[in-house]
Amino acid sequence: MTRVFSGIQPTGDLHLGNLLGAVRWWVEDQRQGETFYCVVDLHALTEPGDPAELRPATLTMATWLLAAGLDPDGCTLFLQSQVPAHTQLTWLLECTASMGELRRMTQFKDKAARHGEESARVGLFTYPVLMAADILLYDADQVPVGDDQRQHLELTRELARRFNARYGPTFVVPEAAIRPPGRGNRIMDLQEPNDKMSKSSVSPQGTIYLLDDPVTIERKVKRAVTDPDDGPDAVRYDPVTKPGVSNLLEILASVQGRRPQDVAGDYTRYGPLKADLAAAVISLVEPIQAAYLKWTQDPGAVSSVLRAGAERADQVARVTLARASDAVGLVLPS
Ligand code: TRP
Repeated sequence: MTRVFSGIQPTGDLHLGNLLGAVRWWVEDQRQGETFYCVVDLHALTEPGDPAELRPATLTMATWLLAAGLDPDGCTLFLQSQVPAHTQLTWLLECTASMGELRRMTQFKDKAARHGEESARVGLFTYPVLMAADILLYDADQVPVGDDQRQHLELTRELARRFNARYGPTFVVPEAAIRPPGRGNRIMDLQEPNDKMSKSSVSPQGTIYLLDDPVTIERKVKRAVTDPDDGPDAVRYDPVTKPGVSNLLEILASVQGRRPQDVAGDYTRYGPLKADLAAAVISLVEPIQAAYLKWTQDPGAVSSVLRAGAERADQVARVTLARASDAVGLVLPS
């Protein structure tokens, strides 16, 4: 049976980009194979943040994942920090990775450049190795990720291959499962359509949160930037020259399970496209909001899902860690 692993950062509230680009597929994959989903709380420590916010943000993210349809009986949902093998395997993989290849990670370069590399945390530098450990511990065949994680996945594959070559067959070499365009992996900011929709967006109007009420969703969609109206075929899918309208088409297509080019054929003007998009998003999020409210009324239930998830994940991860420790020549506890 296919093993699937994926992780999401504990950013607190889920937004539409998370849902359409990742979480919706996680829900679907539950039926296809054995799935492990992790809120990667240790990753949150790679950049400055308030400890008082991390705990609620982590639990809120886990609650949204359940509300969006992760089924505690159909997948293993857990918090990264509750399974010690993640940091333990990271060490073995840090002794497999090279400085040079980590230095080439574009996400590190981008993030470190913001405040200067000199003060960047070492954890920001080694984070892709922790991500590799996340994946390799579960012998995952498939890793659904967004396009921005492609390089980290390539590194994971390389580390697995190198470790296997050096110490003998130990890890499964995973495949990145990156969805084709039109499947929600390019959901952009409504105000800055050249940037991915994200929590750290400059304008709060550019991100639709799953907790937004219908009036807010309508307003955000209505105010989404569009490209100059250049006549009768103004509504067309062309992410390079028309990033604004292409993003709206991408979102609607993704909600409807169609191709953005086909959706474009239904419209000539921006107004009706925006009206239909708002309505489609509202009906998509309403049941998830209702489920979210239900889960929040029972925080004990969320904790018990996470406890069972960590136990199950630990059982699997422990075996892989022992295999890797043995391979490098460590003496296993007798
Ligand atoms: N780095 C991923 C992100 O920023 C999150 C992540 C951590 C992840 N570990 C993972 C994704 C393992 C897939 C598999 O989105």
